[in-house]
This record gives sequence, C-alpha cells and structure tokens, in this order.
Amino acid sequence: MQITIEVNNKKLRAEKGETILSALNRNGINIPTLCRLEGLSPTGACRLCVVEVEGEAMLVTACSEPVKEWMKIRTHSPRVIRARKAIVELLLSNHPDNCLYCDRNLACELQDIAYELNIRERRLSSDAMPVMLDQSSPAITRDLAKCILCGRCVRICEEVMTINTLGFIGKGRGTHVGTTMDKDFNFSSCIHCGQCVNVCPTGAMHERYNVKEVQDYLDRDDMLKVVQYSSLVARSIAEELGMKYSTSFEEKLNEAFTRLGFDRVYSTGFGSDVLITELSEQLAKNKSKKSGATVFTSHCPAWVKFAEQTMEGVLDKLSGFKSPQQVTGAVIKALVPQLEKVEPEQIYSVSVTACTAAKYDARRDDNTRKGISDIETVLTVREMIRLLRLYGIDMNMLDGRHADEPFNLKSSCSLLTSLSGGLTESVIRVLSERHGIELSPGEIRKLRTVGSFREITLGRGKLKYNFAIVNGLKGLSQLEEMQKKVHYDLVEVMACDSGCVRGGGMDGSEAESIVKERVRSICKSSKANVIKLPADNPSIRNYYDRWIPGNADLADRKILMNSYSKKEVLL
Ligand code: SF4
Ligand code: SF4
Ligand code: FES
Repeated sequence: MQITIEVNNKKLRAEKGETILSALNRNGINIPTLCRLEGLSPTGACRLCVVEVEGEAMLVTACSEPVKEWMKIRTHSPRVIRARKAIVELLLSNHPDNCLYCDRNLACELQDIAYELNIRERRLSSDAMPVMLDQSSPAITRDLAKCILCGRCVRICEEVMTINTLGFIGKGRGTHVGTTMDKDFNFSSCIHCGQCVNVCPTGAMHERYNVKEVQDYLDRDDMLKVVQYSSLVARSIAEELGMKYSTSFEEKLNEAFTRLGFDRVYSTGFGSDVLITELSEQLAKNKSKKSGATVFTSHCPAWVKFAEQTMEGVLDKLSGFKSPQQVTGAVIKALVPQLEKVEPEQIYSVSVTACTAAKYDARRDDNTRKGISDIETVLTVREMIRLLRLYGIDMNMLDGRHADEPFNLKSSCSLLTSLSGGLTESVIRVLSERHGIELSPGEIRKLRTVGSFREITLGRGKLKYNFAIVNGLKGLSQLEEMQKKVHYDLVEVMACDSGCVRGGGMDGSEAESIVKERVRSICKSSKANVIKLPADNPSIRNYYDRWIPGNADLADRKILMNSYSKKEVLL
C-alpha cells in the first residue's frame, strides 16, 4: 500500500512498512550509510544515515525507521550534516591515514564518505591505533587498525554464512572485532569464504596477498611457470576492466599471461571435467551395486572445512574428489614433467580463482605429495588485476592465443561447476547420456531455480537418482529435515549463496545484480560452448586414453583425492 511522505518540502510516495532509507533511495535521494547491508536486518551501529523527522527530538536512523503517512523528513539540513560529519570525524580521529598503501585506496567507503561530507582536515585527534595485523590465516588477513566497528563482517559471517567466527570483543575504547577467545584466525572456525572481505567498507579485511611471490617466480628462468584459470575468472576480470566477456577475451587473457612471463596457460575447466566424469562414475557404480550410499560433493573447500569442524558424521560420505583447481594442479604436477622433460620441483604452478578459500585449499596437507605442492600459489581475481596493471598490460591491445595442451579444452558442463547446482546439472547430463534417460520438464525447471535448498530426480522405478542441492550453508537445516524422508544419491553443497559466482576473491560479489549477471553470462557461455559433455572433450579423452596408461602417478587415482578428518577449532 502506498502512502505519502514529505521529504525536503516535496511530497513523495512510499510503500507502507518500508524504511525511510528505502523510500529515499527509490526516489533518487542518497544519504550515506556504513553499517547497512542489503538484505540483512539493520543494526543502527554507525548512525551515519540519520535524518531529521518533524516532531522527533532526536535524529533518527533512516536504515531502521519505517516511514509513516505524512512523515516530514529533512535529509540534508545543517543539523543532519553536522551530525554526520561529527561521526565520520570521530572515526577518522584514530584511523590510519596511510591510504596510499591501503588495499582499499580509491575503493574505500570511508574515504568516499569523508570526501562527500567535505572533510578536508583532521580536526579531532586521538592516539592512532597501532598496526595489528593478523596474518595467521592462509586466506584472509585482518588489519584491526583500519576497523571502524561497523559490524558488517560479524553479521555476514553469522547471518548469511552461519559460521559465527567473528564478534565484538571488549568494551568502550577497547572494543574490537575478533574471533572466539580473541585468538588468531588460524585457530578459529573461519572457513575462508571471504564474504567478510567483500562487505568490509575499509581495508580491515582483505585476502592474503601473494602477488609478490608470483612476481619473484616470473623472473626465474630455471622454473617452468604454469598458470590455470576458469571461465568465471576470465569473466570477472573482463567485468572489472569494463570489457565484454567472450571466448576472444579468454584468448587475450592467455596472451596476457604469456606476456607476464608464464610459460604455459591451462584451463581449470580440465579439472572440472575430470571431476564430473569421476563423480558420475562413482554414482553409477553405487547404483549398480545397490549400495544406497549418499555421496556429498567435496569441490567447495569452504564447505569441506565446515564439514570437518562441525559435521563429523558427513566426513565418510564426502566424495573425496579434490576441487577442480586441485585436480588440475595435481595432474599438471604428474604429467607435465613427463611432457616437458623437467623435474616436478622445477614447475611453479599458479591458480587464479574467484574464491579466497582456494588459497586454504592449496595448503591442505593432502594437496602436497612427496614434499611438492600441487599448486604453489593461488591468486584471487582481485590480485590478478593488480598484476596486470603492475605490468602495464592493456588487454584491449592484445591479440589472442589459445591455451596450452594438454589442458586447453573444456566442456560446457565444466563452466557450470562455478554455479550452485552446476556440478549436479553436469553429473545429470552425463548420467542421462549413460543410461539413456532424461529429466522431466518439471525437474529441468527446478535445476536452475534459486533458494537455499532444492531436490531433483532423474529417472524412475529401479533406475532413479535423487539429487539435493544445498545453496549456501543455511540450506543444511532443510537438508537435515528432508533426509528424514528422502534418500539422496548425491548432495551438492556450496558454501556461498549461488556458488563461486559470489566468491570472496572478486570485487562486487556482495551486489545481487552483479552476481545475477555473472550467473546469466556463465549459463550463456556454457550453452554456446561447442563441446557439450566431458567425454566429448579431446583433453579429457587424451587424459583417460593416452596419458593415464603410461603414467603410474596418473593411473593411481589417489592424486585426485583428499582425505578428511575432524578439525579441532575454537567455535
Ligand atoms: S572489519 Fe571491516 S566490516 Fe568488520 S567491523 Fe571492522 S570495518 Fe566493519
Ligand atoms: S572468511 Fe567467511 S567464515 Fe571467515 S570470518 Fe569471513 S565471513 Fe566468516
Ligand atoms: S547505515 Fe543506518 S545506522 Fe549505519
């Protein structure tokens, strides 16, 4: 129902029950916010969104106060501007001002707001916060001196990810954001999803930097430098550079990697195709043996860590297959020495990824064999863009080139694995082909719907596969309920809502419209890809028919597998 409000002496229409902020924004009036997060309940922590409401003695927070019929609001009165300025000046009074060296320089919400409020000097001064870097996590670095206590990280970790790693600790001036018992991140329940990085308005949370070590290796002639990336990564780099994503953009990116100094450029899609093939085989075997086992996917490292620390009962049900990045990395280290006549330790392997948890994944014990890691360094999309800028590479000016054999081609299924439900859809395509059965139109529609839980059935009678898709960890409670009634052959879990398209390693992942656009674009590219199934991919055919028979490491499927055990962390 629509009501009338008066804003800055002008009548506006508002929806009954919506907040003042929502009504203002819909009518083109912007006011600053810091603690607010779209889709989450307001906390009123920063008070930056205050407005004057006639009849109210105190200023009210627009993000939490609902509109009322004929409410008279002033959004930029002298009193309001004074209050907002005072809040920001207080935040700045002990905030480090070494912005030039900050991860968020020119992309910092605090910097933007100070600029908008015309704050040009430090009028209030208190003791600068000492540098308090927590670099104990393989994926996320915390810089407490830059924290403005907005609480966004606490809320996303608790309300969206359901992890509760972070909370406010201490009182008064000693208040800060920390983990259970204020321990370092590596002792905490953090699953390295990076969602806190995406929402932090300052540089207080960022991924662990690995650009410098890549630079150092790129200068070395005694190493074979190889890099892998997925289509989602290429798409996100194009998005960040304001370019159109297409296959020719991927070819330009291949050329860019070569100019940076990489000797070989590979596709993570290879690992996805191996994973789809192996997982489909595992399910078909279970069905033929009538084993009745439920298999949980293990391609999302953040979900795997969550399971290891809180769901011990699921560990023996995890499929065991590594993530596409690690499968590709393991096969590179097993096959490339034979092809290129180098020692495994002479290969420096880099993965560029959308996911901060992939940095943790590469450091898992079972992703190192005989003292050699499957992947040496993982860079996020954000870091990759920095590297491209550092080397002055103008993507617009590059001619393209293909990725390198033997890991150059990918199927349309492989593209889907970056989406929640994508691995399930790919496995369904493979099993449909294998058994000559098809999804009914109703089930096809369910495959790509949104929501935290969905279930799909392929086939009927004796040959029936039941799939469950848990989209974000919130869906696990629905899974638990449904499992009391339904037996699932495969349960796919991805920790981040919508999948890797919301990964913590890419700017913009907190914005719903950007994530939707990424999903649309990946689905479109997958549809356009000429190689439909992993079995049609010449790289995969070569791997199974040509490379495995002559290579003991590859023949031993263990290189594709992880093992899992209960992890003790402070919850
Ligand atoms: S770390 Fe960032 S998101 Fe968390 S409270 Fe501090 S400023 Fe806000
Ligand atoms: S990385 Fe994810 S799990 Fe870890 S603190 Fe941030 S939001 Fe929580
Ligand atoms: S944005 Fe409204 S109180 Fe912080």
